[in-house]
Amino acid sequence: MTSSGLNKFDANLLKIALTLARRGIGLTGPNPSVGCVIAYGKTIIGRGCTSINGRPHAEMVAIEQATRHYLYQTSVKKEKITVYTTLEPCAHDDTSPSCAKEIIKFGADRVVFLLKDPDERTHGKGVSILESAGIDCVNAKVYKEEMLDTVSGYLKRKKENKPFVSLKIASSINGKIGTKKGESKWISGDLSRKKVQLIRSNHDAILVGSKTVLSDNPRLNLRDEYQNIPQKFIFILDANLSIPYSKELKIIKFNEKEKIHVFTKKNCDKEKIKQIRKLGLNLIQVGKKKGKLDISEILLKIGNLRINKLLVEGGSSIWTSFIKENFFDEIIIFWGNNILNGTAMPTFNDFLPVNTRIKGFPRLKLRYIKNWGNDIEAVWQPITKET
Ligand SMILES: NC(=O)c1ccc[n+]([C@@H]2O[C@H](COP(=O)([O-])OP(=O)(O)OC[C@H]3O[C@@H](n4cnc5c(N)ncnc54)[C@H](OP(=O)(O)O)[C@@H]3O)[C@@H](O)[C@H]2O)c1
Repeated sequence: MTSSGLNKFDANLLKIALTLARRGIGLTGPNPSVGCVIAYGKTIIGRGCTSINGRPHAEMVAIEQATRHYLYQTSVKKEKITVYTTLEPCAHDDTSPSCAKEIIKFGADRVVFLLKDPDERTHGKGVSILESAGIDCVNAKVYKEEMLDTVSGYLKRKKENKPFVSLKIASSINGKIGTKKGESKWISGDLSRKKVQLIRSNHDAILVGSKTVLSDNPRLNLRDEYQNIPQKFIFILDANLSIPYSKELKIIKFNEKEKIHVFTKKNCDKEKIKQIRKLGLNLIQVGKKKGKLDISEILLKIGNLRINKLLVEGGSSIWTSFIKENFFDEIIIFWGNNILNGTAMPTFNDFLPVNTRIKGFPRLKLRYIKNWGNDIEAVWQPITKET
């Protein structure tokens, strides 16, 4: 296997494969979203991305298309066939034939991929299977950041058994998320809220605190052009089961009940538990840490449900708990074009001692910024050794 020998055509086709991979982020769980392009000489004869819920894989979709292409059907194979894929082709054939074996059957001469699959069933084995059949494999060292973006949730879960966590916040210009009385509709404008639909679709699950449910009665579903996308998992943190769960609650009305999970403390009211289960919701009891539900335990339970990307939609107390414990991978903030009172609701509560010096607070790396009409969207990520 080589990591060099890439020409401009290879680099361009890998870029197309990445664009295909981006399409599936949040839709292919528990599998990663992969993009694949197949070239016969310099002609693209097949393209694919991982299908909804993870199967068939991108390579299989591209192979299926390529086998119907007239060049593949009629040629006497004058040109070489190269498979460009964002992730190492899988080696395991427990539920469907392995992509590595199917690529051999298909007759490819070369495979160019961006990242070795961390899944132990494939890691390095996909390449070995291909190479033992005489196929030239190239692990291309290009587009690292773009590639990691397409599989951030999958990599996090494989490494830590916890999902990639995005905190999503809508705030006023002066960092307030609602009035003192708790009104927050609507701090951001229509265009920002449309973008939030896309952000939801790019995640596998949404998490909110009990007070947000009590004060906003949010739907948390996918709407408009996103309405046909499979429903996301929903997690509610409600230690004391203070939400009056009923069919009238919008989260229950607008989402599949079996995908709603309520996290609560151990030993809580048995009657309430019975009522929640009767409604068809899932209930998960976890321990407490410093008087609050243990976020680390919650994230591990969410990881066990094979959730790759989790969108935390508030409110302040919940975001603060995630910040305090350093359990976040990005913060997505929409600043609406309004200014609220100084006593209105802050984005975060205190999470470090009040006498902490500026240098003691976290600093983040700006990854993205865009305006939506009069609003601004910014994405920040923690600064790590790699960044
Ligand atoms: N602008 C925005 O983007 C936005 C988004 C969402 C909400 N909001 C606003 O925010 C307000 C609600 O925020 P909030 O801070 O009052 O409440 P919250 O964060 O929605 O919920 C807090 C409650 O969640 C429960 N909880 C369980 N485990 C927790 C943990 N580990 N850490 C923290 N809380 C935990 C606690 O109640 P138990 O102990 O009883 O379980 C806690 O009181 C609403 O007014 C809403 O309109 C604004």
